[in-house]
Amino acid sequence: MMYEKKKIIVVSNRVPYNVIKSNENIKYKKSVGGLITALDPIMSKRGGLWIGWGGQAGINHSLGIKANVWHKSKDEGYSLKFVNLTKNEIRGYYHGFSNRTLWPLFHGFMFQSHFNNKYWEYYLSVNRKFASEVLEEISGNELIWIQDYHLTLLPNLLREKNKDLKLLFFLHIPFPNYEIFRVLPRDKQILKGMLGCNLIGFQTKTDACNFLTCCKEILNLKVNFERCEVIVDERSVSVKNFPISIDFKKFNNLSQNKDAGKVLKSIKKINSDIKLIISVERLDYTKGIKEKLLSIERFFEKYPEYKRKVIFIQICVPSRTKIREYIDLKKEVDELVGRINGRFAEETWSPVKYIYKVIPQIKLISFYKASDICLVIPLRDGMNLVAKEYVSCKSEGNGALILSEFAGAAEEMKKDSIMVNPYDSEEVADSINLALKMPVEERKKKIFALRKIVKDKDIFNWAGNFLNYFIKTFENSGD
Ligand code: UDP
Ligand code: G6P
Repeated sequence: MMYEKKKIIVVSNRVPYNVIKSNENIKYKKSVGGLITALDPIMSKRGGLWIGWGGQAGINHSLGIKANVWHKSKDEGYSLKFVNLTKNEIRGYYHGFSNRTLWPLFHGFMFQSHFNNKYWEYYLSVNRKFASEVLEEISGNELIWIQDYHLTLLPNLLREKNKDLKLLFFLHIPFPNYEIFRVLPRDKQILKGMLGCNLIGFQTKTDACNFLTCCKEILNLKVNFERCEVIVDERSVSVKNFPISIDFKKFNNLSQNKDAGKVLKSIKKINSDIKLIISVERLDYTKGIKEKLLSIERFFEKYPEYKRKVIFIQICVPSRTKIREYIDLKKEVDELVGRINGRFAEETWSPVKYIYKVIPQIKLISFYKASDICLVIPLRDGMNLVAKEYVSCKSEGNGALILSEFAGAAEEMKKDSIMVNPYDSEEVADSINLALKMPVEERKKKIFALRKIVKDKDIFNWAGNFLNYFIKTFENSGD
């Protein structure tokens, strides 16, 4: 493959390892989220440099990480370079503009988006800080692959320094339509920032199309919708959808390991006929956790015959725990789980099993394998990798996927999933009943069709398509 030959520098807000520093001891803990799940296998396989923040204030090489670059192991893996952020930068750039302004707005939660000029100033200065860290590492011919909404200004900051750089960008979250995006003060700067790239990738066709429309309407640029191209200062910028994926083989193989049966065994010990429904996500309001719990409540109300026969397992990873909206959500979810369990639980059974912590991937696979249904019903999601992980762990075909029409994954997976509107608790309750009653052969057919989609378009295929598209469009050579 052509892209195998190129040196890659990935730049994202967070690197895959959070640095935990206590009393001069330093530990590295894998960070959680779709971006890391997707890109870590690519970088581990092909090597390169990954630049980003270490998850705490004041993390840099002076903490004992030699020469600014940290090698995971001698033979495999990639190097890390930590960008050192202060507490104020974290507050303004990460908690503020990234996660209280852009995150809600891009997910369509317009009235939850807080604009504050101080947040913007930190966003701009931290993007500049990332730019100087990247410039230090460049020798000339590498592909610089910038990730996600935290760094939308970075491409143009780099382009201003060197017009020949090969800059690529991928947005992991949705890109909103024109009417929502134009509400954002600094909308022009965000678009201009991203347009510093040669190639901009989005999760879905709708996202790419929304971006092109914004370039036309807000910046008055020449846009060719058919060629998926914007002309900026006589330079062409390509804009295209590349739905992200997972390492199918890894999930499929691990799910066949004998340890992957552990969860099932321990639950079946209590009740051999129990059916399990699983949901896995960061505790985030875009994931629709509250709405889902209301649907679960409706399900047990409407279909009381499932009492003692079905358990709903909700795994929530603590996320962005210093941000007001996330603190409030945690409280509401705790209360709802308490209310539902209080209402329906009996001596030996509770309807909801709520786990609020990070579960390592290998254990998660065991949960996927044990579950009869996976409920992936975000209010809005860029892609949602949990949906793809679940089907990859179902080699025997014994599962069902209930999927929100507002998840990016719906574009590829809707045909063989049970599609729902996550705001409609009646529909979600009925679809759980439908999935539980679905004949074995039909379940198998659907799961196998979904597995084929993920297998054929895994994360290595995604990276190959993305990088080769860049090389074909901008370098016109086979090297
Ligand atoms: N995940 C994990 N441990 C957990 C919960 C989630 O490793 O306890 C992983 C999960 O396997 C998936 C990722 O976190 O790979 C979540 O990605 P997704 O695209 O579903 O959502 P995001 O968090 O990126 O919004
Ligand atoms: C989403 C974003 C990622 C982010 C992840 C975890 O997947 O698209 O950029 O890394 O959530 O969020 P966090 O704020 O913990 O990095």
